[in-house]
Amino acid sequence: MTTGSIEAGEAKEAKSEGGAASKAGAAAKEKGDGKGKADAGGPSIVTLRKISRSFQRGRETIQVLDGLDLEVPAGSFEALMGPSGSGKSTLLNIIAGLDRPTTGDAEVAGSNLSRMSDGELAKWRSQNIGFIFQSFNLIPVLTAAQNVELPLLLTHLSSDERKKRVATALRVVGLEDRMEHYPRQLSGGQEQRVAIARAIVNDPKIIVADEPTGDLDRKSADDVLTLMERLNKEFHKTIFMVTHDPAAAERASVQRRLDKGALQ
Ligand SMILES: Nc1ncnc2c1ncn2[C@@H]1O[C@H](COP(=O)(O)OP(=O)(O)OP(=O)(O)O)[C@@H](O)[C@H]1O
Ligand SMILES: [Mg+2]
Repeated sequence: MTTGSIEAGEAKEAKSEGGAASKAGAAAKEKGDGKGKADAGGPSIVTLRKISRSFQRGRETIQVLDGLDLEVPAGSFEALMGPSGSGKSTLLNIIAGLDRPTTGDAEVAGSNLSRMSDGELAKWRSQNIGFIFQSFNLIPVLTAAQNVELPLLLTHLSSDERKKRVATALRVVGLEDRMEHYPRQLSGGQEQRVAIARAIVNDPKIIVADEPTGDLDRKSADDVLTLMERLNKEFHKTIFMVTHDPAAAERASVQRRLDKGALQ
């Protein structure tokens, strides 16, 4: 069972602190660099071809996406902006396998999503995609640790292994001292960091974030964006972020704009 790049990345960090951890850190670095190399400009991890998505409302057809093409290189951090109602969330949901296009092909993380059944798609999502939403979506009656553990309940990992991974994910987001807190006992920024821990606990290749800083004050938003930058640079996660906030978009390495059903 792989320990995942999150743990390898942590070992890398230990290296920079020197001392006894340095050997293990160097080994993890070598392993990480050789294997999961995912620098921006590499092969595409998302390829959308002639994607259209329309919704039917009564007799009216709303054409949201119209023949859209998109390539996202593995390892990039992309921001998607555009007017409200332009279809940003619709596009993000198609990339993440939460929604299907009306026509067109989506190839994501090496799989052609259009050919999968709903069950296959759900399994694929749980292995490949981490989700971050504007409203955190934490379950109020579960502690931070239990919320982070949720995606792991769909796997065959032992309880001990799950606990280890939960602790690692919460350490990455700097909340190891809040494991037993309930969402109502956390600030908004902390809640979003728990949600980020939940998004990375399965070690997904791609993280999709739909307005992740929309409900946060500037300082908490900046902390969340710094964390996302770190997930991209240090842990080589490909990140696709929808945002209305120009300051957030600036932190990404690629800025895209969606308008009138097409990428500008
Ligand atoms: N399930 C649905 N059924 C019908 N119409 C939908 C559905 N989902 C989205 N739409 C419509 O598609 C359009 C695009 O919606 P979408 O949520 O993708 O926009 P958005 O760019 O994310 O907007 P915002 O910035 O406000 O979040 C809207 O006109 C919306 O009403
Ligand atoms: Mg939206």
